[in-house]
Amino acid sequence: MSAPVLRDPAPSLGEVRQRLVTTTAAHTHLAVCGVAPPSIDVEQALSWLMQDLSRPGFWRECEQQVERARALFARLIGADVDQVAVLPNASVAAYQAVSRRRWRRRRDVVVTPAEFPGVAHTWLNQPSARVRWTGPPGGAVRTADFLPLITARTGLVSVPAVTYRDATGLDVARIARAAHAVGAQVFVDAYQAAGVMPLHVDALNCDYLVAGAGKYLMGLPGVAFLYVRHPDGPPPALTGWLGRADPHALRATVLDWPSHARRYETGTPCAAAVYAAVAGLRLVNDLDLHQVRRHTQRLITEAARRLTALGEVVRIAAAPDVQGAHLALVDPQAETLAAWLGERGVITAPRAGVLRLAVHAYSTDEDIDVVCDAVATYRRHHHRRSGGNR
Ligand SMILES: Cc1ncc(COP(=O)(O)O)c(C=O)c1O
Repeated sequence: MSAPVLRDPAPSLGEVRQRLVTTTAAHTHLAVCGVAPPSIDVEQALSWLMQDLSRPGFWRECEQQVERARALFARLIGADVDQVAVLPNASVAAYQAVSRRRWRRRRDVVVTPAEFPGVAHTWLNQPSARVRWTGPPGGAVRTADFLPLITARTGLVSVPAVTYRDATGLDVARIARAAHAVGAQVFVDAYQAAGVMPLHVDALNCDYLVAGAGKYLMGLPGVAFLYVRHPDGPPPALTGWLGRADPHALRATVLDWPSHARRYETGTPCAAAVYAAVAGLRLVNDLDLHQVRRHTQRLITEAARRLTALGEVVRIAAAPDVQGAHLALVDPQAETLAAWLGERGVITAPRAGVLRLAVHAYSTDEDIDVVCDAVATYRRHHHRRSGGNR
């Protein structure tokens, strides 16, 4: 396979839609905040995997795919390849980032209840750390909620770039300035942001950043990336042969550590997810993410306007620039609504009392029409509107 190439000019948003397998007249895919729709690119990558499996040298090719994925993700976030580890999921990435940290005087980890649970649980599971929660338990967290909790006792501030439920965007750079001023580090979960808006680790000024391949990065579940600003810190608690300076030396008696982020890696990766990650990242790296951001903001604003006019309760940020690429429609029976929509070819992502409607470069005004009309029909014929707290 050829090395990744940036397309110039970037493909039009309509062209991206042509790459999707499921978004046909019968399918409106609004669930990319949960899982990416299948693309022709990923389908082709999986067929290459099958061919590579029947040829000699499969592992060598698989390793090259890991390196391609690493390089593509590094380019997407403005990092160096040596600052990126390829891991199985975001929870492992969070654990690897802090596993050997000495909390001592700086025991506090500032976290919001709006953090994805797998990341928050990693901080709760640090025996010497003390989690300081910020932001309302059920509502939307704001950048300002973090600042008063950042003190000389803070060791780590954990910030979702965009929250997984309500799609609240946070000003990571501002929080990072406050954290660094007291000597604390910043961990960013960018799973709900990477691939659908511009992200640059120097602008964010974070110490760690994680994102997975299976959502807006258009790949499959099974691969996550961990960016580490200074990857020569304490070695992680979890290791394996791929965390060695030269994995192919295969020396069982030697535990050495490379000075790059590969030290956070462990054992054999999920080959199918790695091949798919390369395909998805190529697609995303080809896009003009500023254009994608404007497009998704417009669609989400329009969807919120339409749904509110129908009497729905939606959780939406006060301004489009602090809104991620999905909106949360409040419904205590969101799973039932999602199943009903799914039977009619509208794929959505329910989570904890909300129905999430997520858009990407390929989404269109027609998708918004389809889902708004379908929700109206559901309320009219089948179920009362349930509403709920904002
Ligand atoms: C913000 C965010 N972080 C992390 C994850 C997934 O974490 P993990 O890869 O550990 O399953 C998700 C998935 O839903 C998410 O939305």
